[in-house]
Amino acid sequence: MSDVEQVSSVFDTILVLDFGSQYSHLITRRLREFNVYAEMLPCTQKISELGWKPKGVILSGGPYSVYAEDAPHVDMDVFKLDVPILGICYGMQELAWINGKQVARGEKREYGPATLKVEDASSPLFEGMDHSRVWMSHGDKLHGLPTGYKVIATSDNSPFCGITHEEKPIFGIQFHPEVTHSTQGKTLLKNFAVNICKANQNWTMENFIDTEIKRIRELVGPTAEVIGAVSGGVDSTVAAKLMTEAIGERFHAILVDNGVLRLNEAANVKKTLGEGLKINLTVVDAADEFLDKLKGVTDPEKKRKIIGNTFIHVFEREAAKIQPKSGEEIEFLLQGTLYPDVIESISFKGPSQTIKTHHNVGGLLEDMKLKLIEPLRELFKDEVRHLGELLGISHELVWRHPFPGPGIAIRVLGEVTREQVEIARKADFIYIEEIRKAGLYNKISQAFACLLPVKSVGVMGDQRTYEQVIALRAIETTDFMTADWFPFEHDFLKRVASRIVNEVDGVARVTYDITSKPPATVEWE
Ligand code: XMP
Repeated sequence: MSDVEQVSSVFDTILVLDFGSQYSHLITRRLREFNVYAEMLPCTQKISELGWKPKGVILSGGPYSVYAEDAPHVDMDVFKLDVPILGICYGMQELAWINGKQVARGEKREYGPATLKVEDASSPLFEGMDHSRVWMSHGDKLHGLPTGYKVIATSDNSPFCGITHEEKPIFGIQFHPEVTHSTQGKTLLKNFAVNICKANQNWTMENFIDTEIKRIRELVGPTAEVIGAVSGGVDSTVAAKLMTEAIGERFHAILVDNGVLRLNEAANVKKTLGEGLKINLTVVDAADEFLDKLKGVTDPEKKRKIIGNTFIHVFEREAAKIQPKSGEEIEFLLQGTLYPDVIESISFKGPSQTIKTHHNVGGLLEDMKLKLIEPLRELFKDEVRHLGELLGISHELVWRHPFPGPGIAIRVLGEVTREQVEIARKADFIYIEEIRKAGLYNKISQAFACLLPVKSVGVMGDQRTYEQVIALRAIETTDFMTADWFPFEHDFLKRVASRIVNEVDGVARVTYDITSKPPATVEWE
């Protein structure tokens, strides 16, 4: 049984067929917000190969024109499922194309807000909705009613803003209810999923814990052993704790101290994960090995490769040393893959689909001949955080900023030496401490200090100094694809700069990075 089949056998599931819209994953996200489980699959999914029956189907938006030669089309078997269907934007145009080809280019593109006028208040799709603001993003539109359909909503620019089949629970809407700009969009999706599809609202992290623990136990069996890397971040910690709840000591966590972790990180992880969360943890000090390999290297991509390859080498070596009490060989490798990674690798990206592999520690599987276990692969980040809190992981760890795999090596610009790492670490520690003290940590998506490979003149006491520069970065973002710099108060920056220059030897000057992404990236390297 596939992962999706297993989850769908417990939770009523709405199938979202993705036609490539940038908003598609948000449909899944919104449905889960009111505890209805949803799975997104590419629009090319063959219904006969699904292996499970959805409670309803949503056809997403997409960047194509249904009448174009290479336009993607839904498998007609979707209509044989005999479940409610909702077409959104391209999805509605697809319904219209199938039923009379009533789609053409609009006189002008419609992008932005419009007012929804509900024409048929008795339609269950619009229950509890009035003339609300909805978000439009389309070039094509319906220029007539598909055969067997009637109008249930209009807008100034779209006489067919909402349609429904005369007899069957099939609906189409021109706007995007999944974006928050559509003020009552969530109500509409809830009307569809809960009232029309009759999907059970049982997708909660409490229920997920129970089903997932059961699933892990069945998968791993009564004796097999599992190994996994932890980093001190939220995803690997939640995955490790879940494994521990399921199979106890038969799960072996390894933290590889690569010498470029944050200040006191290895010791802190030992304390919180090992002692606090009772995870069967081995901490491996491989700092010298990593730093030796990084000697003389200044190119950021080379640093990443060296750290990635050395990690695999060290992890495999340490894994081979583990002697499971059961006497069994280690059979599984745990990975903290999340749903956005899965979506990224399966979503429909046009006629030539781009499939991206999403192994967090790519390379390990082939060499170690281990089977993969990914308990978080159905979850969004905020669901992982909620799960973490339910599993007793501290609020502080659950809400920790992300930290890149290559760590401080890509925050020490130029050559990475033990001394340079130490300077960057201390500055970063002070910066984060001040952010926490000011109550700003949870308002910022990510913050860190970088050590620049330039020297600058300063004066301390009566002495002229000639030391390095620290650059501080803090960003606000929802998806890390685009980001804005955080507008600190001047007093805050003054305090941090003063502490860093006074407390960290080797630093003469502090700057604050005020570049957004794009054009800059979040990390400096
Ligand atoms: P950029 O610098 O690409 O960062 O704008 C976006 C997010 O990705 C993180 N990042 C990495 N994470 N390995 C990782 O595990 C890497 O090589 C890496 N590079 C960037 C970065 O910290 C930010 O959260």
